[in-house]
Parts: sequence; structure tokens; C-alpha cells
Amino acid sequence: MRSLALTAAALSALSPALAASEDCRCFPGDACWPAEETWSSFNKTVGGKLIKTVPIGSVCHDPQYDEEACEALKAVWLDPDTHIETSHSVQSALFANASCDPLAPREAPCVVGTYVQYAVSVSNANDISKTLKFANEKNIRLVIRNTAHDYLGKSTGAGALGIWTKNMKDMKKVKWSDKFYKGDAIKMGAGVSAADVGRFAHEQGLVIVSGNCPSVGPAGGFIQGGGHGPLGSKFGMGADQALEFEVVDGSGKLVVANRRKNSDLFWALRGGGPGTFGVVVSATVKAYPDLPVSFGTLMFASAGLAEDRFYGACKAFYEIVPSLVDAGCVPIFLFTPEAFVLQELIAPGLTEAELDKLLEPFLAKLEGIQYQKNIVPYKSYLDFQSEALAPMLKHQANFIQGGSWLIPRSLVTESESFEKYFAAVKEIVNSGAFVQQLGFNVAEKEGGDIDNAVLPSWRDTLIHAVVAVPWNPAGSIEENHAALLSVHDDKISKLAALAPESGSYMNEAIPFNANWKKDFYGANYEKLESIKDKYDPHHTFHAFTGVGGDYWVEQADKRLCKAGTEYVKEEEKKDEKDEL
Ligand SMILES: Cc1cc2nc3c(=O)[nH]c(=O)nc-3n(C[C@H](O)[C@H](O)[C@H](O)COP(=O)(O)OP(=O)(O)OC[C@H]3O[C@@H](n4cnc5c(N)ncnc54)[C@H](O)[C@@H]3O)c2cc1C
Ligand SMILES: *[C@@H]1O[C@H](CO)[C@@H](O)[C@H](O)[C@H]1NC(C)=O
Ligand SMILES: *[C@@H]1O[C@H](CO)[C@@H](O)[C@H](O)[C@H]1NC(C)=O
Repeated sequence: MRSLALTAAALSALSPALAASEDCRCFPGDACWPAEETWSSFNKTVGGKLIKTVPIGSVCHDPQYDEEACEALKAVWLDPDTHIETSHSVQSALFANASCDPLAPREAPCVVGTYVQYAVSVSNANDISKTLKFANEKNIRLVIRNTAHDYLGKSTGAGALGIWTKNMKDMKKVKWSDKFYKGDAIKMGAGVSAADVGRFAHEQGLVIVSGNCPSVGPAGGFIQGGGHGPLGSKFGMGADQALEFEVVDGSGKLVVANRRKNSDLFWALRGGGPGTFGVVVSATVKAYPDLPVSFGTLMFASAGLAEDRFYGACKAFYEIVPSLVDAGCVPIFLFTPEAFVLQELIAPGLTEAELDKLLEPFLAKLEGIQYQKNIVPYKSYLDFQSEALAPMLKHQANFIQGGSWLIPRSLVTESESFEKYFAAVKEIVNSGAFVQQLGFNVAEKEGGDIDNAVLPSWRDTLIHAVVAVPWNPAGSIEENHAALLSVHDDKISKLAALAPESGSYMNEAIPFNANWKKDFYGANYEKLESIKDKYDPHHTFHAFTGVGGDYWVEQADKRLCKAGTEYVKEEEKKDEKDEL
């Protein structure tokens, strides 16, 4: 075995030609990795906003073990905010790769691992541009990180420098007027959360489309990946709302993208995938007059019911899903062998009585079944977001892993295909996963303009079916990885077989899907690839399963190398040279 000192000596003796190949990103430990002084001088150019990663889990491991701090961290590990507040920690346990897992034993290793090595807490386009140029110059992997919600590992990366947008919280009400939209709009910085903009819009008597989880960043992955939310059936996808972006492109240049300027980039940023085309500095989106929200829940148990009767009642719900979504509602429901649960029935702009009326045909079929139904009227969207949504989404980090399939309306409304769909869902549920089904109508709204990069199959989707299993904190990374693969291969595949031309929502999908180009982007892929080539020709941005995401390939140590090349360790190259 080679001693460390020898390796270091060997490394420093290397000629530039033998330094980490330009086919691979420079990695910590390589001769090309910037020295502390280089990081320090870079830090000065970005106003001291450079942060070196010390994993938050380090208080749970030697040598930094601190019992009190560790217990406190464990208590909030499932809370998204725990991760959002840091410059490195991510909400997907699989991609954290147990690098410094607070739940692991004290003596387990704590490394930076798959977390970014450094991050710049950027405040403006200038910081972003400087960080990007530094990464380009030093050939270092770059990661754009906002709230780190990403289920597909795109907001972290081994050996990377992060652009951390959390502190870009500017918000402004603006007036917009063009051929497609005249009215109020809100311009928000990259780091604004759905909760932030919810409060701001409310103060102006307005509301915007954002996701269910108040901590997701609308200007980040949400809009760029498509974005479904409680107001989706009423106003459309998150991406359909965007009017303009300010973006730092792959060369570090700040550009404006809207219908007139850089309209190809504007098209791509609306649903063509996050972390791919540039760093969004701000997004300007449509804002609507605030509205009340009726919020319903309903459940019944299977206990005491004949199996046919129970499943018959579950099936009856699907009959009203089209009328619910066409009235602007978003129902979120699931069933298990034990119960049917309508977890959320979000009815923006509808009164309790109007919602009841929509439910009536379903309730009529529940005769003799004891169900619990509840409808709460909220007088504003903000009340609904902070009182109904926020508590439900409090403990979702490191919690589940899974993917999705978009179910076309015709599959549900035609009785023969519906029977097949229902049977497939039942089979998946019986195999131990849950299938959370979200009802939508995100077809073009009146006066809307949906010529954007959102996966086209969203437009005739009735149900976004999310198939997931719990993350097993006691299991190894390998075991959890295998469980996720089985969700794809054995479970989602059953739904995909019924609607192979549909696809999967890229923000809630399984990245280990060989068919990701078609399933996540559909017919848009090639056009998106040419836009990527134009704005990021050197692949400064890498997003696993993003457009062009196969340009770089993660090696065994998770270093990025260009596809078709393989990383050869410095020492091995040196050995080869010695042998000559
Ligand atoms: C608990 C939970 C609930 C969710 N609920 C919903 C929901 O209701 N509807 C929905 O549509 N999705 C939902 N999602 C998925 C969510 O939309 C995606 O994870 C989204 O990518 C998060 O974006 P972010 O910017 O907040 O997070 P991050 O993980 O920080 O970023 C996600 C991706 O966007 C990129 N990115 C971030 N900021 C920028 C920027 N400024 N410029 C360019 N790229 C950027 C990142 O590089 C990464 O690829 C949910 C996820 C979780 C974990
Ligand atoms: C960057 O500079 C700031 C301010 O001087 C300092 O607090 C911070 O620790 C520095 N970051 C690094 C990685 O050295
Ligand atoms: C990821 O975890 C595995 C163990 O499960 C480990 O061997 C590997 O080194 C980790 N990768 C990184 C980049 O830390």
C-alpha cells in the first residue's frame, strides 16, 4: 500500500500534461484542485460569501461528537428547513449517500462525500457569474442549489462548488402587458420560497401558482421542471405562469429571456428542466386576485365491508375526478387494503356548498358506508397555505423515495382501460408501495399561452400517479437504492405499460430510468438539446437526467468525466510512465 506522503510527493512531481485529464472534472485530492490560498482569494472576489462544507451531521460523529447537538439534529432531521438552512445538506437521503448521516452510529465515517465541497451564498448575478467563471477556469463541477428538495440528486454533487441561491429573496409587484397577458405580475429572486411569495402576494391582494410544499422554490426547480400545485387545475402549470427570466448563462453572461428576447431560452426554462440552461436570477410570473379556498378531506375504512363493496366505492371516486378538475379543483387521494383516503381536495374559489355539490354523485354511491368528511373554508390562499399545507408537509425530508407516471384522461374515463388501471394500482399497493394520485386539468386555459417545454403529455393528464416507498433509515444505501429500482422496474412499469406514450414528471421521477429522455421530455428533447448547446456549449451545468445530462458521467468515486472516457488515477499514470 502506498503511503499518503508518497502519493502527495508523486502528485507534486507530476507535469501539467499528467494532471487530471481535461476529460474529467478536477476533484479534491487532485494536483489541479485549488489550494487553500486560491479559495481564499476567490472568497475575496465574492465578498466573503464562500462557505467550506462542514457536514451538519458532524456533531453526531467523532471527533466532533456532541451529544446534545446531535440529539437536537436528529429531532429535526425530517424537517426540510433543517437542510434548506445549510449550504450543502440535501433532502434526498439516497443522494446524501450517508456521507455524514446523523442517524448512523457515532463511529460511522463522516465525510463531505456527495455534498458540495464549497458553496457561494450568492446575492446577485455578479456573484453567480464570478462563481461560474471560477468553476470553469478551475475545471470544477458546478451545482445550482436552492432549497435542495430535488429527489433526483441534482442539487448536490461530489467534488462540486455550489451556487447557493437561498438568500436571493427580492420580490416586487410589476405590471405586465403583452399579447398574451395583461395584468399584475410578481418578480421574484431565485431563492424565494412558495411561503415567502405566498405572504408577499397576499399583502398585495394577489396569489401565484406554487407547489404544495411551502418550502419549494418557485423560481428554481419548480417552474423549470414544470410545476404542479394546488392552483394547477385553475391556472395551469408553474411553467405556464412565467413571463420573463433573468439568467446567467453557461459563459457567465447575464441575459434576459422573454417572448421577444432569447425566446428559445425562455421556451426551454418553462418546463425544460432545472439546472440545465443557466442560473435563473429572477422569474417574473403572472399574479391573480387572491381567492378563498375550500379544503376537503374524506375517508372510509374497509373494515366490515365486503371486498367488492370497498373497492367498488374506491372506484366510484374516479368517476368524479374529471368534473372536480374541470371545476378547478385538485384532489389528492390514495387507497390501501385498509382504507380510501382523500387526503386533500383543494377547491380554489369554490364555496363549501359548491364543493359538496361536486362530491354528491360520489357520496350517493357510499350509501351504507361510514365515511368521515370534512370541509374547511379558508378565506385566502395564504390561510390555506399556512394552516392546511404547511403542517402536512413538515416532515418530508429523507422520508420517501419514488417516482411517477402521468395517467391520460382517456385511460380513466374509458371503462375497460380504467379496470386495468385500477387493477394495476391495487397490485402496486398490495406489493408494499403507496400510490398517491393527484388529479389535474392543466390543458390550456383561456387566453393562456402554453407553447413551452412542459412535457406535452401533462396536457391531457387526469392523474399524476406518484408511486413511492418509505426511505428505510436502518437500511444501507445499497438496500434503499435497490428498493427505488424496484419501484421503477416492478411498479411504475405496470402503469407505464398502460400508457407508454405518456411520461413521468421529471421533478418527481426515478433518475435510474434508461428511457429518461423520452419519459421526462417527450418530443421536446432534441429542441431542448440544441438550446442547451447554444447557451451552455461547454456543459458548465450538469444535471443528472437534465437535457444533455449524459455528456458527463459519474465515475465510481462520483467524479464527472466526459462520456466515453474513464478516469485514470494520477499515481497509476505515473506508474505507467515509470514503466516506459
Ligand atoms: C416534500 C416535497 C414536496 C414537493 N411538492 C411538489 C409539488 O407540489 N409540485 C411540484 O411540482 N413539485 C413538488 N416537489 C418537487 C419540486 O418541485 C422539485 O424538487 C424542485 O426541483 C425543487 O426546486 P428547488 O429549487 O426548490 O430545489 P433544489 O433541490 O434546490 O433545486 C432543484 C433543481 O433546480 C435547480 N435549480 C435550483 N435553482 C435554480 C436556479 N436559480 N437556476 C437554475 N436551476 C436551479 C437545481 O440545480 C436542481 O436541479 C416536491 C418535492 C418535495 C421534496
Ligand atoms: C470567506 O470570507 C469570510 C469573511 O472573511 C469568512 O467568514 C469565511 O470563512 C471565508 N470562507 C472560506 C471558505 O474561507
Ligand atoms: C457513497 O457511499 C458508498 C457506501 O455506500 C461509499 O463507498 C462511497 O464512497 C460513497 N461515495 C462518495 C462520493 O462519498
